[in-house]
This record gives sequence, C-alpha cells and structure tokens, in this order.
Amino acid sequence: MKELLVTGGAGFIGANFVRYVVAYQPDVHVTVLDKLTYAGNRANLAGLPAERVTLVVGDIADAVVVDRLVRDADAVVNYAAESHNDRSLLDPSPFMQTNIVGTYTLLQACRQYGVRFHQISTDEVYGDLPLRQDLPGHGEGAGEKFTPQSRYNPSSPYSASKASADMLVRAWVRSFGLKATISNCSNNYGPYQYVEKFIPRQITNILSHRRPKLYGAGVNVRDWIHVDDHSRAVWTILTRGKLGETYLIGANGEHSNREVLGHILKLMGQPADAFDYVHDRPGHDVRYAIDASYLQQSLGWQPRVTDFTAGLRQTIAWYRAHEAWWRGDKDRVEAGYRETGQ
Ligand code: NAD
Ligand code: DAU
Repeated sequence: MKELLVTGGAGFIGANFVRYVVAYQPDVHVTVLDKLTYAGNRANLAGLPAERVTLVVGDIADAVVVDRLVRDADAVVNYAAESHNDRSLLDPSPFMQTNIVGTYTLLQACRQYGVRFHQISTDEVYGDLPLRQDLPGHGEGAGEKFTPQSRYNPSSPYSASKASADMLVRAWVRSFGLKATISNCSNNYGPYQYVEKFIPRQITNILSHRRPKLYGAGVNVRDWIHVDDHSRAVWTILTRGKLGETYLIGANGEHSNREVLGHILKLMGQPADAFDYVHDRPGHDVRYAIDASYLQQSLGWQPRVTDFTAGLRQTIAWYRAHEAWWRGDKDRVEAGYRETGQ
C-alpha cells in the first residue's frame, strides 16, 4: 500500500490517524480529503512533512473530486463525517448529506476503480445498553456488551446516519464485491479533539474559568479509548482484516460521565463539586460497552493506553500547552450550548 486516501483527515481522529501513518509507515503517502467544516482544521496536520501528506479541501459527496482522488489511491479510509450528537438534534440535514450521501459517493468510486475501502463507524449504531447494575451479569454476561452480532438500533440522527452508511457498505460488499471492512469504535479521547465534545469541553472550561457541565444526573456510561489505540487498530484492520468483516474496537474503558468529570477535576486541582448539572440530552443513550475480543483474537490487536487517568493527564497537558489551538472556538461553542441550556 503506497497511496492512502484519508477522508476527514483534518478532524480529530482522522488527523491522529494521519500522524500515526506518517510516524510508523514510512513508505505510505497520504492524501487527505477534508471539507474543513467547523470541526476540520489545517492546524491538526501542522508540522507533517509536505512530501508525505497532501491536503485536498473538498467534499466526500462531490463525485468529481472523489473520482479523481480514488482513481489514484490504493485504499480509502473514511473518517469524514458530521460527528456530534447534540448538533444532529438541532439540524440533522448535514448529517444525512455527509454521512450517507458522502459515503455512497465514496463507495461508488471505490467500486468503479476496485479500490480497498475502510469505513470508520461508531458503537452508537447499536443503540444503548442498560447500566451494569441493572444487568444479571453486571455488564460481563452474554449480550451485556456490543459484539459484531449485535442488532443495529440507533437512537439519534447522528447514529442513524452512521448506521445507514454501514448498511450501504455491507450492501456494496455483497452485491458488488467491494473490498471493504467496517470498524465500530467506542468514545475516543486525546489531542486535537474539538472543544464541543465532553472531555475537551470540561478541560477547556476549567482552563477558561468556566464551570464544567454535566448532562442530566451524569450517570450515563461511555467506553473510553485513547485515539492512538484506535489508529493502530484501524491500520491493523486495513492491512490484515478479512474483507467484508465488521470489527469492534474498544479498550474496556467504561466510566460514568460523573466519574470522568471527577478525574478531570482532581487532575486539574479543582474541588470535587466545582461543576453544574445542566439539561439532559434528548434521547440520551444510557451506556455503551464494547466487546473487542473478535478483533483481539483474530488480528492480535490490544490497547496500550490502559491507564485512563494517565491518558487523561496527558490529554489535559496537551490542552494546557495548546491554548492557541482551541481558544478561538471556545466562546462560539459555549454560546451555542447556552442556547440549549447546556
Ligand atoms: P470530527 O468532527 O472531529 O472530524 C470530522 C472531519 O470530517 C472534519 O475534519 C470535517 O471537516 C470533515 N468533514 C465533515 N464533512 C465532510 C465532507 N462532507 N467532506 C469531507 N470532509 C468532511 O470527528 P471525529 O470525532 O474525528 O470522528 C471521525 C470519524 O470517527 C467519524 O466518522 C465518527 O463517526 C467516527 N467515530 C468517532 C468517535 C469519537 O469518539 N469521536 C468514535 C467512533 C467513531
Ligand atoms: O461512542 C462513539 C461516539 O462518541 C462517536 O460516534 C461520536 O462521534 C462522539 O461524539 C461520541 O458521542 P457521545 O455523544 O458519546 O460524545 P459526547 O462527547 O458528545 O458526550 C459524551 C457523554 O458526555 C455523553 O453521555 C453526553 C455527556 N456530556 C457531553 C457534553 C458535551 C455531558 O455530560 N456534558 C457535556 O458538556
């Protein structure tokens, strides 16, 4: 594999993946196709060697630009998406256009040129799970985590659009023999995550003398994975995964939002009660939990960042050191949240 097309490579997870490929795969050249929406940022690719990475500003739903780039690629990894649940509740339209029509456009081009395709998806396509304490096996019994066999049951416009895209990939594999794989990952954290998302929002709230905000009672559980572990898993699946297969990526990182905020407050030297409870998210998924044993057993991948507080400490240090990266977006993001009472 010499020429990789990474869509959405100027966003949080895509940019971390591009950095991973540049660092560990010296023979690969990456072309990033990114629309540079509010969440995309050239600065996320700053410092990478020009001979290794080319940024093309464009839309994955634009068949002309997609055709030109896919024709020259050995593989496409599709990170491009509208990614924020709260925004999808306010205006679903860009989610349908990018996440569904955009993926369709990429699939058609990959089909035409016989190019390998990998779809970056989310655990949210499976809907949610009850809290551990409400389950007979306390979260470890059969059916108490998501597996590749779990039924699709998305809750929000965002997760429904991602589920739709996954269905398109599966149909293109079966009907047209597309050489494709899908990975559904749990919640990522790490550097370059846009300040609207839970962890960077709370860190930058504290750094900008605002109080952190917890939705509802803060009992909802997310399964956290460091973005570097996600990048390594995607590279493993892209190069060694079985065509047509779905892989779930997770690092056994279940924490309630209240616990995560508690860690952040402690690591940043704040009192344990220095936050506000705000309006809950409509339709708020209760718990996500990934059973990654199929990926682990079939391809030998294992997470490396297994100490969540160490990962959080490193992430906090990154936001402290990169205030210029987030400061410009912060007021606008918080003004948006104020309108919904969050
Ligand atoms: P992000 O919002 O930070 O980045 C998305 C990127 O896609 C941005 O650079 C944006 O400019 C680009 N983009 C949006 N619309 C585009 C279009 N029409 N054409 C080209 N580029 C476009 O998102 P993220 O958190 O980095 O998520 C990346 C992918 O990973 C998404 O597909 C998301 O569904 C998936 N995912 C995210 C998580 C998570 O925890 N954040 C977990 C699992 C899966
Ligand atoms: O599970 C994977 C998904 O994780 C990805 O597919 C999405 O792209 C990504 O955004 C993320 O979705 P979530 O909705 O889980 O992430 P978010 O950061 O928006 O919220 C995480 C949890 O924190 C969720 O339960 C809502 C809560 N929350 C969020 C914000 C922004 C708060 O309590 N306070 C907040 O200020």
